[in-house]
Amino acid sequence: MRHKILVTGGTGYIGSHTTVQLQQAGFDVVIIDNLSNSRREVLDGIEAITGIRPEFVEGDCTDIETLRRLFREHPGIDGIINFAASKAVGESVHKPILYYRNNLGTLLNLLECMPEFGVKGIVFSSSCTVYGEPDKNPIDESAPIKAATSPYGNTKQISEEIIRDVITSGAPVKSILLRYFNPIGAHPSAKIGELPLGVPQNLVPYVTQTAAGIRKELTVFGDDYDTPDGTCIRDFIDVNDLAKAHVIAMKRMLDNPDGEKLEVFNLGTGRGLSVLELINAFEEASGVKLNYRIGPRREGDIEKIWANPEKANTVLGWKAETPIRDTMASAWRWQLTLSNPNEKQPS
Ligand code: WQD
Repeated sequence: MRHKILVTGGTGYIGSHTTVQLQQAGFDVVIIDNLSNSRREVLDGIEAITGIRPEFVEGDCTDIETLRRLFREHPGIDGIINFAASKAVGESVHKPILYYRNNLGTLLNLLECMPEFGVKGIVFSSSCTVYGEPDKNPIDESAPIKAATSPYGNTKQISEEIIRDVITSGAPVKSILLRYFNPIGAHPSAKIGELPLGVPQNLVPYVTQTAAGIRKELTVFGDDYDTPDGTCIRDFIDVNDLAKAHVIAMKRMLDNPDGEKLEVFNLGTGRGLSVLELINAFEEASGVKLNYRIGPRREGDIEKIWANPEKANTVLGWKAETPIRDTMASAWRWQLTLSNPNEKQPS
């Protein structure tokens, strides 16, 4: 029987790529999104890739009656993947109530609805931010959770605890917490990708916008870190690889009723790349010379973090496999599509 999955935040960056992978794996998808940080046209992109238009509900998950109506009108939802959340670290410092209300309110409502409507499992988007500055790299799931440095990071830690407490209480639900490292890139078709509103805060959209001439230059935030080239190190993971892990996690929860009720996995490549190495990979993949300069450190940045993804590799049988060059090429193709929406891209 085909499983039906609710993807909250499904028109967003990771949600849209995951919807594509779910559909291609034979799942039916219902999306709920309030379009606060995404556009309805993303549904066209998904449909152009898979040939299937996901069912779409425009609504806010912080309103439990909206969710109850959705579950009544779309009966038979087996699982939820929860992407609906605010995600800008800096903004969260200035608007903590918004972040706690959105991120925790949504999760609480979903967990409350699950037993009411017979939904068996929830995959939760967590983050490597829960580890703070690691004592050692690569970092595995048993590493200590460090005090959060932003309200955003705190919502991820609290969300993990809420899910743990609900499962401990004996609620008839299962969960898999996925701790993402740094998702980048776009679908190879360039029909969906990241849509940063305003000035991008993250490295790759800033890189591609600079290369496209939308921004004058990229500032590399510090080259005096204790790393080989002095710039920070991250574990950049292709968004399509990341999306595939959600499909595997969902199958694992739904197909093994007697399996673990709560599991946590790091989703990274296991390879750390510095900011300068990432820029080089972009230049190679795009053939564009990037205009950048070295600037001061950004407050709150972690010096180096990369994943030990062994647990996901062995237990889930999942591995991030897209070469960084392909990922940077997809990010660039997507940027060109955004800059020239009417121009057909070379395939
Ligand atoms: C990467 C590196 C910057 C922009 C992200 C998310 C955060 C969390 C973890 C989900 C850093 C440098 C950046 C620029 C630069 N994800 N940089 N110039 O800091 O790892 O955080 O992953 O929970 O929400 O934001 O990612 O892309 O912002 O930065 O030099 O213009 O690029 O200093 O070293 P980060 P990022």
